[in-house]
Amino acid sequence: MRTYLVTGGAGFIGSNYIHYMFKKYDNEIRIINVDALTYAGNLENLRDVEKRDNYTFIRADICDKEAIGKIFAENDIDRVVHFAAESHVDRSIREPEVFVKTNVLGTAVMLNCAKAAWEKPNGSFQEGKKFLHVSTDEVYGSLENEGEYFYETTPYAPHSPYSASKASSDMLVRAYMDTYKFPANITNCSNNYGPFQFPEKLIPLIINNALQGKKLPVYGDGKNVRDWLYVEDHAKAIDMVQEQGRLFETYNIGGHNEKQNIEIINIIIETLQEMLADDDPRKALVNKDLITYVEDRKGHDRRYAIAPDKIKAEIGWEPETMFKEGIRRTIAWFFEHEEWMKNVTSGSYQEYYNKMYNV
Ligand code: NAD
Ligand code: TYD
Repeated sequence: MRTYLVTGGAGFIGSNYIHYMFKKYDNEIRIINVDALTYAGNLENLRDVEKRDNYTFIRADICDKEAIGKIFAENDIDRVVHFAAESHVDRSIREPEVFVKTNVLGTAVMLNCAKAAWEKPNGSFQEGKKFLHVSTDEVYGSLENEGEYFYETTPYAPHSPYSASKASSDMLVRAYMDTYKFPANITNCSNNYGPFQFPEKLIPLIINNALQGKKLPVYGDGKNVRDWLYVEDHAKAIDMVQEQGRLFETYNIGGHNEKQNIEIINIIIETLQEMLADDDPRKALVNKDLITYVEDRKGHDRRYAIAPDKIKAEIGWEPETMFKEGIRRTIAWFFEHEEWMKNVTSGSYQEYYNKMYNV
């Protein structure tokens, strides 16, 4: 039975990955989820799995080398899947230091503890151990012209404190692979959307505001382009890279789904109008007059677009969920989880944790 150490599993992508893995492997694997439960970490995301005998949650900070070292010492970890990070660009512009600490130092601690646990006296590594570092397409900077794409060979050119910290963490993973032949992979993925996404990010923020008749803030001219991928497709790609990818390689993951922010907002409004029943009082609130252009984000990257050619050619992964379907599924999920949204926006999930774990 393989044992996974997942960091940041209480966040958006991490919790979707854990659900995906249990759906796929059921009792064939064991998952230990290590998360510090920052504002972005929410144990409610894992309610469906928390009673499983093959799932354990440990509250710890990835910068705490004693806590992380102890987890490696007490468990025979076969796979690390490293999601834990500060992930929001706007927050990084206001408060860069915590991004450097968690994303850079935290990754260094994870690498060092895994290396110490897996390295043999002759400097080689125990057979079959693997570390996957989850990163972003934002490390490549901004594309100006249509027809240009990010490839694995595109030079790094991060602009925001968030992307600079993720680029630094990627470089550390590369250094471990080059220096020690540390068994790792890096994945650089485009923007994700789907269930459990924290409503500070564009798509859940727009859904949540529109349903309450609140303004829909569009930064700048609304024409910045992102390449959106349904989160379950990302979870699947991570698993495929770890099991079928070549060690030491980087794989770009993307949705083939470039859209301007204003297009995304219009699609959300139209889909909400289609999906809401005529007698639902929220239907009258949702309309395009809510769209409000606001001051642009500082240093706002214009366009991101991934070429996922390598992962398709080597591993056979392709995005499966068309945006039209993915956004309907996401909206349906938010309809069914109004309580989740209320708790997340009120911060009462912290109380849930305290009750759940008696702290
Ligand atoms: P998120 O902000 O929703 O979740 C991050 C999780 O990490 C939270 O559960 C948080 O509590 C935890 N965490 C933060 N600091 C920690 C620390 N010091 N110690 C332990 N845990 C800590 O983020 P997400 O959107 O799920 O992103 C996960 C990963 O995927 C990140 O590394 C991010 O850079 C990367 N990524 C995200 C996207 C995206 O569109 N969201 C796209 C590509 C790559
Ligand atoms: P975001 O979801 O924060 O992801 P990222 O910055 O990592 O790509 O933002 C996606 C795009 O939407 C980005 O171009 C900024 C823009 N945006 C808005 O226009 N309004 C908003 O309220 C937010 C949160 C983002």
